[in-house]
Amino acid sequence: MHEIPRDGVPDSTLSFAWDGYLFITKRCTRLGTDLFRSRLMLQSTVCMRGEELARLFYDNERFERAGVAPSRLQQTLFGRGGVQGLDGNPHRCRKEMFLSLMSAERIAELAELSAAQWHRSAANWERRSQVVLFDEACESLCRAVCAWTGIPLVESEVRRRTDDFVAMIDAGAAIGPRHWRGRWARNRAERWIEGLVEDVRHHRLTVDEDCALYAISWHRDLSGELLDKRTAAVELINVARPTVAVAWYIMFAAMALHQHPQCRERLLAAEAYYLDYFVEEVRRFYPFFPVVAARTRREFESKGYRFPKGERVLLDLYGTNHDPRLWDDPHTFMPERFRQWKRSPFSFIPQGGGEYLDGHRCPGEWITIELMKVAVMFLSTSLRYSVPQQDLRMSLSRIPALPPSRFVIGNVQI
Ligand code: HEM
Repeated sequence: MHEIPRDGVPDSTLSFAWDGYLFITKRCTRLGTDLFRSRLMLQSTVCMRGEELARLFYDNERFERAGVAPSRLQQTLFGRGGVQGLDGNPHRCRKEMFLSLMSAERIAELAELSAAQWHRSAANWERRSQVVLFDEACESLCRAVCAWTGIPLVESEVRRRTDDFVAMIDAGAAIGPRHWRGRWARNRAERWIEGLVEDVRHHRLTVDEDCALYAISWHRDLSGELLDKRTAAVELINVARPTVAVAWYIMFAAMALHQHPQCRERLLAAEAYYLDYFVEEVRRFYPFFPVVAARTRREFESKGYRFPKGERVLLDLYGTNHDPRLWDDPHTFMPERFRQWKRSPFSFIPQGGGEYLDGHRCPGEWITIELMKVAVMFLSTSLRYSVPQQDLRMSLSRIPALPPSRFVIGNVQI
């Protein structure tokens, strides 16, 4: 039995901020290991990467999520009391509610709303010399997801509500003003959505029974109680906010189309499955969530190592998606690699791994893929545009990664 290797420094919090997405990979390479113990934000933390350790990480007998998310993440990205921090049956009951929103028909409706929205927005772009694609994608997705979830969105508030969803996503790993913007955004959004939940419950607002606002307002937990209004708001924001986050992937897809023009040609030629491979490669290649966190439920031994009870563990999503043992030439953008991919729930984990219902894997994965497909087809077949000189360099210390120009396009024609 071995002790888990240590990274050998008293505290690595600043190094994490500096190395960002590469923090775990760099240390694994240096120490010749797939796991090591570090000290992060005053807590001993085991960091691990790769398919085998991802399989271990998603073993519910050994790991749990309650109380793992740091307070600064709860005050911005996640909110308090949401599905991310639940375990066992309470998690399953809540997760069933999310998954019930994800029927093929409902996802197709969201895809249609989004396609219509892209066309509506682009009609305005023709009159402008340039547009920032990321900002447009955020607004367009915000409009589509609000219509889909039943959230009434007043025209004069569209930009502010969109900015609040974006600020929550942007704030999770940030310090200073970016963090505070996220906290204020969350407080505003929770107050707004709590009011809507109360309106539904008191029949002041009528919404379709198959939409998320209805399902969450009337969802009952295992004790048969309705969710308190703040938790209901947190869960509805857990649908709307990450749908707006798909704008990051759409911007990355546009960057890939620009940097690899042969991909656009293959999309235009409607090569079988190429769109699927392209979208998967965007999700694998570009950085978004660097890690996910859990805590050991009890002491156990695995892979020749002893894990103590109550230890925080981080799984490296970005590093696993770029692990050269799983992906040939991992830092090359190559959609066709997915032709040979042996589907494993633990090797390709941009939105988490393992199971959907009994695990924490992202329930929005199908939505993400469909919205990306709609946007990629729109950009490659319905639109003509130029890409002016701009700064597209992406720092891997910024979480979530975002190029300074947020992808500007010009001379748009539909
Ligand atoms: C969980 C990523 C889109 C809803 C997660 C997790 C990741 C992730 C990494 C954590 C997995 C884990 O803890 O093991 C992403 C990315 C997205 C995206 C990169 C696209 C940009 C969506 C969408 C929804 C959604 C569109 C809308 C329904 C959720 C929820 C959870 C989650 C509710 C918590 C699940 C649980 O704890 O059981 N996502 N997601 N996500 N995602 Fe997504």
